[in-house]
Amino acid sequence: MDLYFRYKSAFSGLSQPFAWVDMEQLDHNIALHLKRARSMPIRIASKSIRSVAILRYLLNASAQMQGIMCYHPAEAAWLASLGFDDLLVAYPSLDTHGLNAALDQAAQGKTIYFMVDLPAHAQAISDLARQKNVTALLCLDLDMSIQYPFLYFGVHRSAVRNAEDAVALYKKIRAMPNVELRGVMGYEAQIAGLGDKVPDQKLKNTAIKMLKQNAIPKIESRRTSTVLALRAAGADIQLVNGGGTGSVESTIAEPSVTEVTVGSGFYCSHLFDNYEAFSARPAAGFSLQVTRHPRTHILTCNGGGYVASGTAEKLKLPKPYLPTGMTLDANEGAGEVQTPVHFHGPGLHTGDPVFFRHAKAGELCERFNTLYLLRGTAIEERVCTYRGDGQVFM
Ligand SMILES: Cc1ncc(COP(=O)(O)O)c(C=O)c1O
Repeated sequence: MDLYFRYKSAFSGLSQPFAWVDMEQLDHNIALHLKRARSMPIRIASKSIRSVAILRYLLNASAQMQGIMCYHPAEAAWLASLGFDDLLVAYPSLDTHGLNAALDQAAQGKTIYFMVDLPAHAQAISDLARQKNVTALLCLDLDMSIQYPFLYFGVHRSAVRNAEDAVALYKKIRAMPNVELRGVMGYEAQIAGLGDKVPDQKLKNTAIKMLKQNAIPKIESRRTSTVLALRAAGADIQLVNGGGTGSVESTIAEPSVTEVTVGSGFYCSHLFDNYEAFSARPAAGFSLQVTRHPRTHILTCNGGGYVASGTAEKLKLPKPYLPTGMTLDANEGAGEVQTPVHFHGPGLHTGDPVFFRHAKAGELCERFNTLYLLRGTAIEERVCTYRGDGQVFM
């Protein structure tokens, strides 16, 4: 049966709009990324999942799943309270409430790593950990960006740019009580999060591929030399995290790396269609109901303005998915409460659902309380998003 009609029939009767996960597509993507990672452990980026039930499903899918990469210490604390363990908080936080909550979980035996790249990050954790008489595990975020003469290729996050910076920070950490440096994370955003097969930009894709090829050995050399230098200085570095969905192949090839992160590639939000190295399947999205029919080939739906974060550009709009052949209106895009679609095919009427994909994976879940999990022709389960659990971390 045509996928649109299968979805339409399986989801009929639900209140619109709603969000869905196609579990067979998700299973396909899980298998795909496990294979891409070969035997390298995969840490699941929770920001790109934002549902406890789906995080559990992913962790249970294979022993190769290593743990969770969290995006806020309060989130790590909450997940730990639900039974999750091995939580890497990937972004430094100075939120005392969140840090305290996570340290309380660490005091109860949970393994939680806190990200640092400035002495102030480590100092804040050390002060709080000392009050609780617990030792906090730290992970150092190494900047993986590359400054070319006319181009900055990467992101602006960490102040630790090389092995010397890392060792200098480690020496400061070593002098602080109740903290121990155990990990290094280097996220090569310019490889992992930058599509190189974006439609209608052939020249730019070629340039991005060349930049990526040039950057990969530099990234390897910086991450490896930093890990070696930290170990030589006495740090007990056990965890070396790298990469993301878009960089699995190059990240796992690096001998110093112990785990690779994957998040977005599981739901495969539409920005992850645009990579030469892999083809994941659309596994999550949302449905809107057609409520108006203002012109012969234009149908207007309720809802839809779920635009992704980052630079404001067309690519961040949701993508009409099913039935195939729909396009957004160039003047209106995806609207606050109304989204017109242009459609020249037959068989779409007021009252019908139309299916869209979000540009970014986890942000979908900030718009809905519930995910309807589809398997084959039937809804298997209805589960909460973080938002549905009353948890919003940023
Ligand atoms: C630190 C870090 N690691 C890994 C990732 C990759 O996540 P994903 O696979 O969802 O793109 C990100 C994404 O922004 C990140 O910030």
